[in-house]
Amino acid sequence: MKEKLEQIKQEALKRIQESTDPERLNEIKVAYLGKKGELTSLLKSMKDLAAEEKPKFGQMVNDTRSAIEDVLDEAKNRLESAALNEKLKKEVIDVTLPAKKPRMGHRHPNTIALEEVERIFIGLGYEVVSGPEVEKDYYNFEALNIPADHPAKDEQDTFYISGDFLLRTQTSSVQIHEMEKGRLPIRMIAPGRVFRSDEVDATHSPCFHQIEGLVIDKHVTFSDLKGTLDRFAKELFGEETKTKFRPHHFPFTEPSAEMDVSCFKCGGKGCRFCKGSGWIEILGCGMVHPHVLEMRGIDPEEYVGFAFGVGLERIALLKYEIDDMRLLYENDDRFLNQF
Ligand code: DAH
Repeated sequence: MKEKLEQIKQEALKRIQESTDPERLNEIKVAYLGKKGELTSLLKSMKDLAAEEKPKFGQMVNDTRSAIEDVLDEAKNRLESAALNEKLKKEVIDVTLPAKKPRMGHRHPNTIALEEVERIFIGLGYEVVSGPEVEKDYYNFEALNIPADHPAKDEQDTFYISGDFLLRTQTSSVQIHEMEKGRLPIRMIAPGRVFRSDEVDATHSPCFHQIEGLVIDKHVTFSDLKGTLDRFAKELFGEETKTKFRPHHFPFTEPSAEMDVSCFKCGGKGCRFCKGSGWIEILGCGMVHPHVLEMRGIDPEEYVGFAFGVGLERIALLKYEIDDMRLLYENDDRFLNQF
């Protein structure tokens, strides 16, 4: 029996030493120390021993059990720390590697142009206001002297939401909201998004931006309009810029005009940029129609106004000599980073 015990012990120790993974150690533990293991069955055969031998042999079995347990524990620790070391080696982090640089954004050409326009008009004492993009037909057309059957409605086809609501086709609607506030005089610009049912191409987009301007006060004249917009053009495109006003028609102004600036590329001689004419069309303007004032309860005998509307993209495209409007909306880093 003693030899058998010694043999079991040696065999167990050998298998423990040889095993290379902790799973195997568990199997060995079950095979030798488990309920149906070798040591247990040896204990069971103790009944055949003489009574005085039993305690001694029992003690020997227990010693063997704890010897095997000790070696098992030690092997388990050894294998586990080896596995951990292996894992650490594989997952090593090189803290000296340079970090990925965060990509810094910057202002969009539209934003740069808008801030420039705002700077100019704030300098002239204007307030910057805004109005809703979803608008009632009334504010976008009717109150601007464009009744239901007016042909101007065809030119500014838009997206109808429901019933009376549509996406505004022009920031001119903000004129009406400002007049409704009932505070006079008014000296405001209103930048914002407008919408038209247009196909996308190099000069059109179903969504673009306008900046509206409105002044209402006593004794305002067409000269004030011309002086203001001439100053604006010179601030924006340079002191040498000349302006020219051509008669035009807008339903909410009378008289109405379009303003051209002398081509800042060729100085007015005529080049590819201005299509040979020496002039570039830049905005629409006019004296506020008396009927528009009347509809808002403002007495046109006492108050006079002028208004203008300019396309923001148009300014950005001209100022930065961009020949395709789509570039402004594609958000391509390589394009945007140039401004
Ligand atoms: N709202 C006009 C448009 O979208 C632009 C415009 C023209 C605005 C003349 C004005 C103005 O305030 O006086 O075509």
